[in-house]
Amino acid sequence: MIGTGYVGLVSGVCFADLGNDVICVDKDISKINKLKKSIIPIYEPGLDELVKKNYKSGRLKFSTNLAESVQKSNIIFICVGTPTKKNKYEADLSQVYSVAKEISLNIKSFKIIINKSTVPVMTGDKVEKIISNKVKKKLFSVISNPEFLREGEAIRDFIYPDRIVIGTSEKRSNKILKNLYSPLISKGAKYINTSRRAAELIKYASNAFLATKITFINELANLCEKLKINVEDVSIGIGSDNRIGSRFLRAGPAYGGSCFPKDTRALIDTAKKSKSSLSVINTVINSNNNRSKLLLNRIRKILNNKIKNKKITFLGVTFKANTDDMRESSSLEMIPFLNKKGAKIKYYDPTGIKTEFEKFKNVQFKNNIKDACEMSDLIVIHTEWNEFKLIDLKKIVKKRNFIIFDMRNIYSAEKMKKQKIKYFGIGK
Ligand code: UDX
Repeated sequence: MIGTGYVGLVSGVCFADLGNDVICVDKDISKINKLKKSIIPIYEPGLDELVKKNYKSGRLKFSTNLAESVQKSNIIFICVGTPTKKNKYEADLSQVYSVAKEISLNIKSFKIIINKSTVPVMTGDKVEKIISNKVKKKLFSVISNPEFLREGEAIRDFIYPDRIVIGTSEKRSNKILKNLYSPLISKGAKYINTSRRAAELIKYASNAFLATKITFINELANLCEKLKINVEDVSIGIGSDNRIGSRFLRAGPAYGGSCFPKDTRALIDTAKKSKSSLSVINTVINSNNNRSKLLLNRIRKILNNKIKNKKITFLGVTFKANTDDMRESSSLEMIPFLNKKGAKIKYYDPTGIKTEFEKFKNVQFKNNIKDACEMSDLIVIHTEWNEFKLIDLKKIVKKRNFIIFDMRNIYSAEKMKKQKIKYFGIGK
């Protein structure tokens, strides 16, 4: 596994746990040294136990030596980052290409090279070209095998995937990959063999579709607020149609994370380069970009236009629960905005203080829910961590007329009404 980021580390550890010998390679020496001591660079439930267990058994190794690791392996997964280029929609593939070049210098026997990084359509073709500059065609095969791991659920998603997508037209490689994944296929995962380009597009299309689903329900939630309808009833009503499906229909803040925003942008870039229009995805991106402003406007209304000097608490600041990831989290737009308008912000997140807010004078981290909430005028439930679901805010908060803005709809509006708490949810 080349790259010990989210995808490489989780997949590598899980492959080792299935009985394979795995080397996780990274050029970051301090990261590799920490991993050798079972210090995990990311927050992912269950990952540390799995790393410890497989490292101890000897099936999982960590290394900074790419050349040696490539020579020792039959199957090589490229799992490096593909961020958006600065001020553009295009994905930055420099890491993928430089790894491909390094791999090409170390192939002496047949190798399967798999792109697990999320890459635009035809990146596989380019990787193949780079390697064929140094290596005979019959000595390697380049395959696309996208990942569908959700942060916070990554191990479960690896072990019980809905589907495994293998993009190759070569029979021999397909057979080897089918065998590698056979423990998961026997548990019910669908195995789909497509062309390499189709596999690459499946990854982008999946994320873009899910982002569309969320944006769709978020916009319906706006309408529900106007018409006094509960959007959760609508989600259940439409989601019960098997053609639509009930998942990813939870209205909330703008979607964030390391994938949806980046991948929707990259898909637009791919379409543009092919002179095709993906107007739906363009609209999704714009609607999502606008969502934090919309919710901030709602906060302004909830506070009767008086944001200055208000004490506002954010419970959860990461883009979703069970992760410490702040990438493209809507709190990054909301907290600085409210701070600029003169609000005094306290926040609590189970994954601790965030460097992103250190530069703001009136934004303070508290390491427990009580300290974060007790003097609050407004409590914003930003992330749906389980530990927020049963807190008795009436007991904790000292301000008499405090308000809750539940951006994840984790509380019941009826219960709040009974407790005489001023409560606002999303789409209700
Ligand atoms: C996503 C994909 O789900 C995964 O398959 C892919 O490989 C990587 O990107 P991830 O970014 O970890 O995973 O998070 P996900 O659970 O998909 O949530 C993404 C965003 O959508 C979050 O901001 C989340 O809060 C939001 N979301 C999700 C909603 O607002 N409503 C929903 O119903 C579901």
